[in-house]
Amino acid sequence: MTQLKPIIAIDGPAGSGKSTIAKRIAKKCDLFYIDTGAMYRALALKAKHLGIDPENNVAIVKISKNINIELKYEAASSKLTVFLDGKDVSEEIRKPSITEHVSTIAKIKEVREQMVLLQRKMAEGKNAILEGRDITTVVFPDAYKKFYLDADPEERIKRRFLELKDKKIAVDEAIVQKDITFRDKTDSTREHAPLKRAQDAIYIDTTHLSIDEVVCRVLKEIQKKP
Ligand code: DC
Repeated sequence: MTQLKPIIAIDGPAGSGKSTIAKRIAKKCDLFYIDTGAMYRALALKAKHLGIDPENNVAIVKISKNINIELKYEAASSKLTVFLDGKDVSEEIRKPSITEHVSTIAKIKEVREQMVLLQRKMAEGKNAILEGRDITTVVFPDAYKKFYLDADPEERIKRRFLELKDKKIAVDEAIVQKDITFRDKTDSTREHAPLKRAQDAIYIDTTHLSIDEVVCRVLKEIQKKP
């Protein structure tokens, strides 16, 4: 790893507040924001466009080696634009049809290796904040500051449901519950780089905290000397 600039790493399950907090911290601290979940989602979308079954590991690995993903974060509007092979897919990757399959493709060892390479390359030479499931454990285990955000499942389901509603993506709350339960299990029990709390990551339970309160906690930790 040739990373010399400080990296902030955040992990946690779906709906724990990672993206919201990472975006706010990126804006406040002028950091390059990398949403690694969006990258796995872009790969799942590419597979869908090509008609590849998410269980077809060989074909998924093949396309993961030849994928062009770009992330552009505009701090002023807090908007992340995701480009897949040059096309803006920011909205498409959030659809339930992608969410449903993304954990399945994220289980594949070679896919993860490819994504980790891309993520390190994206962060190279930058002051960056990355969020995902394996940032504190695999991608940047020596990050300047590491966080694990968590929240009760009911709260995470509620947040995700409201978020999708806000994006005008029609979905039933029962479907969101099913999705979060499935992904919690798949992401934390997979063989390669499962979601887990790194021993040296700062743990924040966001269940009863406002966004501002979490941002404040994270900022305080970043400002503390390591
Ligand atoms: O953060 P998200 O919900 O958009 O991520 C979508 C999926 O991608 C998540 O269920 C598991 C996978 N993922 C992963 O395996 N490793 C990461 N670093 C980020 C996401």
